[in-house]
Amino acid sequence: MTILTVKTTPYNDQKPGTSGLRKRVPVFQQPNYVENFIQSIFDSLEGFSGQILVIGGDGRFYNDVAIQKAIRIAAANGFGKVMVGQGGLLSTPAASNIIRHYKAFGGLVLSASHNPGGPEGDFGIKYNAGNGGPAPEKITDAVFARSTVIDSYKILDTPDIDLHAIGTQQVGDMVVEVIDPVADYAALMRTLFDFDAIKALFASGFRMTFDAMHAITGPYAHTILEDLLGAPKGTVVNGTPSPTFNNGHPDPNLVYCKEMHDLLMTPDGPDFGAASDGDGDRNLIIGKNRFVTPSDSLALLAANAHLAPGYKGGIAGIARSMPTSAAADRVAEKLGVEMHETPTGWKFFGNLLDAGRVTICGEESAGTGSDHVREKDGLWAVLLWLNILAVRQQSVDAIVREHWRSYGRNYYTRHDYEEVDVAIANELVDELRARLPSLPGRIFADDLQIAYADDFTYHDPVDGSTSARQGIRIGFTDGSRIVLRLSGTGTVGATLRVYLERYEAPDGRHDLETQLALEPLIGIAEDLCKIRERTGRTGPSVIT
Ligand code: G1P
Ligand code: ZN
Repeated sequence: MTILTVKTTPYNDQKPGTSGLRKRVPVFQQPNYVENFIQSIFDSLEGFSGQILVIGGDGRFYNDVAIQKAIRIAAANGFGKVMVGQGGLLSTPAASNIIRHYKAFGGLVLSASHNPGGPEGDFGIKYNAGNGGPAPEKITDAVFARSTVIDSYKILDTPDIDLHAIGTQQVGDMVVEVIDPVADYAALMRTLFDFDAIKALFASGFRMTFDAMHAITGPYAHTILEDLLGAPKGTVVNGTPSPTFNNGHPDPNLVYCKEMHDLLMTPDGPDFGAASDGDGDRNLIIGKNRFVTPSDSLALLAANAHLAPGYKGGIAGIARSMPTSAAADRVAEKLGVEMHETPTGWKFFGNLLDAGRVTICGEESAGTGSDHVREKDGLWAVLLWLNILAVRQQSVDAIVREHWRSYGRNYYTRHDYEEVDVAIANELVDELRARLPSLPGRIFADDLQIAYADDFTYHDPVDGSTSARQGIRIGFTDGSRIVLRLSGTGTVGATLRVYLERYEAPDGRHDLETQLALEPLIGIAEDLCKIRERTGRTGPSVIT
């Protein structure tokens, strides 16, 4: 087996977004596209010679091809060992755990998360560092810079590596170990949650449905929920990963999990419904007659985490992304722990988690997680909910209502305008940004007064770094907020996200329909940003 140095020419579009490099599959299939990007990653790192690299993906179309390339390039660049999930599979949180558990140098996570897969679908590559978390901006910036000038990559000339047999094999000077993708993750969950209590809950007749959406969490959910926790077979549906997600859209929201939502709203439906996305880091939580918004779920999990063994000593703090509702802030205040507001994207939580300043983190986009790994974790959220339900012996609905009675309710919604013309989207944001200084003091809908208007800049309290232009915030004197930002994960056109939030005190009305409760703010957002007018759309493409 010889190491080849192959000449290449740079691509100019390999800038990692909110979560790694994401593009349509045909883009990744261009000659040397994957090779250039992976070599650019390795060229931006130092000190990995002889070290471990973890590789795994969500099993989507092109996963197998990209993994073979990644292993060959890793071998040629001097890694000592690659640990790869059997069949090339690892959920994103499981990959994070493997990196940490085996003290790997880092890992390559191959996924486009909740985006559709298949020959015309999306693919993605993300580098995670030794703490198990997505590479910080200083690394992703260096990778992008390198990708624009790269002129060669190193690759081992070797036949395809067998990724199905568990065990080790020699590939050039490097060892490849194929591991069970589920075992270490399941063991970690056991250390955090009271499996006996959850087992007893299922034994008492508690009924749950878990939709793995034909994606990566299938094998994890079958093992943990059905085999280890005794939930009846059939609790996990769509549990076999498929390269095209069965031609579905593996995004666990009320649009793509509508059937499950409707089932949970029927009188004889199950007690609890949950789902996870393509790569297993997002979660959807629905109780009988109660959908729990991700922002509320973050607050509820933080308020009740002490009921699970892994968090019985209490939590150090909470972090949420800026657009996420402020529901968790009230919990942090009551617990007397630190609260942090970070830009969108899990990579911004890493420093706070590493420094021990926060234990629980979350985003409005169905992501919650804790310091057990450095990624958000779909099944973790489901298991923490189950642990809480097992201890409190109340329904999800009762727990949510009780929470609102003590903390108040943050009505919250996100309106997405997808595949908007990039120039129109940029112009809209730029113009609004220019008008921000003139907005404070203005009064809308009789009594809603703007208190502040800015473009969010984050100052990382751990490493002192600054991240500017992270989304426009328009705050009102009653605590309501309108946030507007452009997605950093879309692959076609621009996606405009408008986040709307209004706070209702503990003794206020908590039973309003969300869109109705936010109607005045939705109107103000349109007045201010003219999104519908400028894009020619009659309304958002997705409401969550
Ligand atoms: C979206 C979500 C964000 C999440 C990211 C990766 O990013 O909004 O919260 O971290 O996906 O899952 P966006 O497309 O908004 O940049
Ligand atoms: Zn995901």
